[in-house]
Amino acid sequence: MSSTKIGLGLAAIGRPEYINVRQVVDVDKSEQYYRDNAFKMLDFAYSRGIRHFDTAPSYGKGEEFLQQWYKENPYDDLIFSTKWGYTYVANWNLGYNGAHEIKEHSIHKLLEQWSVSKHLLPALKVYQIHSATFESAVLENAEVLQKLYEIKRKTGLKMGVSVSGEHQSEIIACASQIKIKEEPLFESFQVTYNILETSSHDILRSLIKAGKLVIIKEALANGRIFRNDGYKHYSDLYTELNNLSEKYRVSVDAIALRFIMDHLQPGVILSGASNTRQLSENMQALKFTLENQELISLKQHKLNPDAYWNERKHLQWN
Ligand SMILES: NC(=O)c1ccc[n+]([C@@H]2O[C@H](COP(=O)([O-])OP(=O)(O)OC[C@H]3O[C@@H](n4cnc5c(N)ncnc54)[C@H](OP(=O)(O)O)[C@@H]3O)[C@@H](O)[C@H]2O)c1
Repeated sequence: MSSTKIGLGLAAIGRPEYINVRQVVDVDKSEQYYRDNAFKMLDFAYSRGIRHFDTAPSYGKGEEFLQQWYKENPYDDLIFSTKWGYTYVANWNLGYNGAHEIKEHSIHKLLEQWSVSKHLLPALKVYQIHSATFESAVLENAEVLQKLYEIKRKTGLKMGVSVSGEHQSEIIACASQIKIKEEPLFESFQVTYNILETSSHDILRSLIKAGKLVIIKEALANGRIFRNDGYKHYSDLYTELNNLSEKYRVSVDAIALRFIMDHLQPGVILSGASNTRQLSENMQALKFTLENQELISLKQHKLNPDAYWNERKHLQWN
């Protein structure tokens, strides 16, 4: 068994619409419903041994719900991670036309969002640039890097980056080389990794071996690993996942998560579950291991990163 832990991400819990491939849509989209559900999810996750919770200012009320829950449940073994760099602009308007979150990797955005996120201390342990890219030049912004260094020195937080897109490996490589006063600035890397997208395998393995924290996101390819008539080109994968799910008597999401645990052995895989049933099913991944031959066969379903990210770009907010 690997030592990978399952964490819970709040992207689907803190706001009413997300880019997941939803097969069942919530009937009640009110803020009260989401608040109650978030508290239920956090209680349930903690009771099942989950300690790592990941959020961001752009996950609607994600940070607020987590902070309120923490106030009522001040456990001393929690690990929160949050991010800075995206702002939620959909403002709970259902069917909001356009991107629901806007990117801004400026020093002003860092200062503004840090002034809110710091209230998650002392459970806050990891502070990440949200979707660092070469285009935003955030990894070359001396003022931003210096401020992150100051926050790190003052609070003891691990600084991290989250990455997306076909250049994720290059961005991680670049971030892992940045040093301030001879110290590597970034020690945590949040990366998309799943059966369809394994292109960052080698660099992540080397970071894991060097003792860095690797956090996996989008482990279920935003829901694309579930059989879906809109994705007929994955029918061989769906059949294979289904056979393994029957063999191990778990749902297909547990097979997909186990694949990552056995193939990559990251520190944390974030569950994107939006209800307690999904989370329980995800956690079945901790109870078995895949055989070598099964891993080899699942590895064959990887896409070329351009194809993967092109499909990902076309997912709709819903
Ligand atoms: N740039 C970034 O930094 C970034 C980007 C993306 C994600 N993240 C982090 O990673 C976390 C997880 O990623 P994610 O939510 O995007 O992706 P994910 O885990 O790949 O996808 C979650 C999807 O799987 C579905 N699901 C999960 N378990 C299920 C089950 N047992 N049965 C049926 N459906 C199931 C969810 O359903 P529903 O559709 O019903 O909710 C959702 O569609 C996020 O919460 C966030 O913390 C970070």
